[in-house]
Amino acid sequence: MSGFHALIPAAGSGSRMRSARPKQYLELNGLPVIAHTLAALSRDARVDRLVVVLSPDDMEWDSHDWSAWQDRLLVLRCGGATRAETVLNGLGAMAEWCVADDWVLVHDAARPCLPGDALARLLDEAAQDAVGGLLAVPVADTLKRADAEFRVEATVPRTGLWQAQTPQMFRHGVLRDALRAAGADMTDEASAIEQRGLRPRLVECDSRNLKVTYPQDLRLASLILEHLND
Ligand code: CTP
Ligand code: MG
Repeated sequence: MSGFHALIPAAGSGSRMRSARPKQYLELNGLPVIAHTLAALSRDARVDRLVVVLSPDDMEWDSHDWSAWQDRLLVLRCGGATRAETVLNGLGAMAEWCVADDWVLVHDAARPCLPGDALARLLDEAAQDAVGGLLAVPVADTLKRADAEFRVEATVPRTGLWQAQTPQMFRHGVLRDALRAAGADMTDEASAIEQRGLRPRLVECDSRNLKVTYPQDLRLASLILEHLND
């Protein structure tokens, strides 16, 4: 049977957060953001490894206590200049011990509020799929396309539109080939898979699985975490 490994890109600087430290280390309900991310992923016993990919310049990882996850945790310091490069470098290092058919769940370090039931659904549904899949949310708001003067040029029908989240779950070999071919600018793994002519499955999640991007997101994440497992 194929294994399930989580790959957590954590080599970003968090520029939109405008904080002195990378956002994955900012305090959230008493712990670094990424500690909540690791806790959420490790709550499902099927996820057998947590592979964290740091920047080679990371100054902070070693100053925290990660012993709660030490049996499953593998830390790599091979992050790249873009998220796609970080993921590709991580996949390269994983190739030493995982096989091409193993499933890799790529999950942003900055998504600390991943609900356990959504993770379970992804593992159930994507593993039954020939390609794999990703968590995503159907778009709720009416969408506008803007011109250069910030005036509405058109209303875009939202039917069939989804917002991509993570985890995004694909087989190690297929994902590595797809990212190698796609180049460094892909903002998610599914885009690279789509460029190969494959069609990832969408598994429904909700807005609790937010990516902490702007300063106000931290407060929201704090409130979500307080009630996540109610
Ligand atoms: N990431 C990474 N390597 C990079 C860039 C991003 O591993 N070179 C990771 C981030 O650490 C984060 C995830 O990819 O966990 C999602 O990216 P994003 O939210 O864009 O994080 P940052 O790039 O750190 O933030 P910003 O774009 O605001 O600078
Ligand atoms: Mg970024």
